Amino acid sequence: VQQSLTVCVTGAAGQIAYSFIPLLLSGQVFGQVKIHLRLLDIPKMETALKGVVMEIEDCAYPLIGDIQSGSNPKELFKNCDLIVFLGGFPRLPGMERKDLLQKNANIFKEQGEALQEVGKEDVKCLVVANPANTNCLILSRYATKIPRQNFTCLTRLDQNRAYAQVAQTLNKPLSSLKNIIIWGNHSTTQYPSIEHATADGQSFVLSDQGQFIERIQKRGAEVLNARGNSSVFSAANAVKDHIKDWFNGREDTLLSLGVLSNGEYGIQNGLCFSYPIRCLGAFKYEIVSNLELSDFSKQKLKVTEEELIQEKGLAESI
Ligand code: NAI
Repeated sequence: VQQSLTVCVTGAAGQIAYSFIPLLLSGQVFGQVKIHLRLLDIPKMETALKGVVMEIEDCAYPLIGDIQSGSNPKELFKNCDLIVFLGGFPRLPGMERKDLLQKNANIFKEQGEALQEVGKEDVKCLVVANPANTNCLILSRYATKIPRQNFTCLTRLDQNRAYAQVAQTLNKPLSSLKNIIIWGNHSTTQYPSIEHATADGQSFVLSDQGQFIERIQKRGAEVLNARGNSSVFSAANAVKDHIKDWFNGREDTLLSLGVLSNGEYGIQNGLCFSYPIRCLGAFKYEIVSNLELSDFSKQKLKVTEEELIQEKGLAESI
């Protein structure tokens, strides 16, 4: 049994952090494990970050260990068991996708170098900041001493969204559903698949599969348009689910995590790709690599792979 864990959250003065930190410190991620917290943001956010620390103190969480906050990854990544990368450069009006990719690639290059210098060799990383898959790839590239399977990116929000939509469409409880999979990029080319899914143990079809796929691909924009702000607590909740299942293991269903490909399903080696994953406990997992894919699915995987190859090219030109 783990006595304590050191967890760093980047982008700690941001919105998702504000929803995620309470989940972490109230025991909803790791259970009754003491958490030493490291909070990283940029110098401009220093005062706001101090306010977050004050609120954490004022919660008097029984599970809180020591807290450090600041803007230097080389100080804050030391001794961490897990780093949750929420921090990134936002897309500003008029900014091109290429600029956004490169700005973030620079951040993840710098943080990868910091990890390489001061990180524990068994640190686990979850990248949430967009473009999540490509940021994760860049991070891993600069932190070569850390095993590649320790790098993951978040597609659990997409998976949770897909479960919710299927449950509504079939009019079945969420608990009856298994093995809905998100393939590829956390973007509008992702492929939410029901090909291997079951409801009450039976496979099923959706009368309008095309509409379902598009709804999940564009769900982020749907929330953004309605709220005038991006998804926040649903994202924090997915971060909790991702880490909790990765840490504890999960026998009953396949999960979706972005991980570095070893060529499974013909995807380019080294891309950070969301796959069907079996979580085995203690942060161990395997990519389930023997599912039969229809031609329709194969074609969808190609589309999202191509986007990731393109993103990688843009990020590499920094
Ligand atoms: P936010 O803009 O409220 O917070 C981001 C924080 O990161 C800010 O406080 C900012 O100062 C900080 N930051 C910027 N550069 C940094 C650096 N170099 N080091 C440390 N911190 C830095 O954004 P929010 O809503 O919290 O979202 C965080 C990220 O998560 C965004 O990139 C967003 O696009 C992404 N996201 C990903 C989802 C997924 O499913 N993968 C779902 C929802 C959001």
